[in-house]
Amino acid sequence: MTEQNITRIAVMTSGGDSPGLNAAIRAVVRAGVYHDLEVYGIRQGYLGLVNGDIQRMDSRDVAGIIQQGGTILQTARLPEFKEDSFQRKAIRRLNEHGIGALIAIGGDGSLSGALALHRKGVRVVGVPGSIDNDIWGTASSIGVDTALNTIIEAIDRLRDTASSHERVFLVEVMGRRCGYLALTTGVITGAEVVLVPERDLTLEQLGKGVEDAYMKGKSHAMVIVAEGANLKTEDIANHLVQHDIGFEVRTTILGHVQRGGRPTAFDRQLATRFGVAAVDAVIKGESGIMVALEGTSIVTRELEEIIGKQRPINPQLIELANMLT
Ligand code: ADP
Ligand code: F6P
Repeated sequence: MTEQNITRIAVMTSGGDSPGLNAAIRAVVRAGVYHDLEVYGIRQGYLGLVNGDIQRMDSRDVAGIIQQGGTILQTARLPEFKEDSFQRKAIRRLNEHGIGALIAIGGDGSLSGALALHRKGVRVVGVPGSIDNDIWGTASSIGVDTALNTIIEAIDRLRDTASSHERVFLVEVMGRRCGYLALTTGVITGAEVVLVPERDLTLEQLGKGVEDAYMKGKSHAMVIVAEGANLKTEDIANHLVQHDIGFEVRTTILGHVQRGGRPTAFDRQLATRFGVAAVDAVIKGESGIMVALEGTSIVTRELEEIIGKQRPINPQLIELANMLT
């Protein structure tokens, strides 16, 4: 029972999945049970909520999942949830099940949906989950650390064969609007060039970066390209081939391998702390907030404050990238 006499809460995962979501689900369910709340799981995000795909969960339902990637509740995208009529259907479903509060785990889109429900009087707490690390107000989101480790493992492997064949590899990573994955992995793998959505480059500027590496006598060059950057990977490859910069050119698009895998220790801990903090916030009667990481502490942010903003990339990382190549 919470201060607002809430006895039932629901949890869901929405939008792009990420490693660690199961750890967060587990934490929400077990913290809710610990506090004598009934916990319900909503399958497939807002789609499942609108359709009433809602099932009671207990501690046994989340046994053995903390180490699993993906989400046992599955997820979905429902663009129609931006419409008032779909939001009202969702509220009706919550009321039908006597659910007094919703914990929504997802990226900036899912958190926008959570804010929309809060504005309509639903008690909602958001949990940031997205490999892009594009959510403003939190130092990291669930899945970011695991995705970083997946990407650097791939780049390190590609570097081996690039050196063997004196090649330049264009490696495309995820990040539609945010270059965090590209910039961070570029710096920590020593890539020669990094291209992010936040900083445009011309084909000529990028080509010069690769040519400089060749002229220095390097055995290879690595170019990390965020999928949302201003230059497309294919166009970059064609430019480098046409201008015969010295290296042979190869391309690898990492794609959805970045979204899977066993969550790292950091993501398991972050997800667990986020899940427990979300339940604590519900019990305190909070709503319209998102749990967040600030330094090593878990804090809360107003959804009104974060929605519509994007987490900026760290300019110091840009300087490091330029200095150390
Ligand atoms: P992510 O949460 O990973 O950013 P999306 O951007 O696809 O993924 O958002 C996930 C879901 O959240 C969407 O399919 C939609 O159901 C809901 N959503 C996204 N933006 C809004 C919005 N502005 N208002 C209401 N619901 C939204
Ligand atoms: O938002 C996370 C993300 O992985 C983006 O980096 C990527 O562009 C998008 O999801 C891919 O979406 P989907 O899985 O629907 O193809």
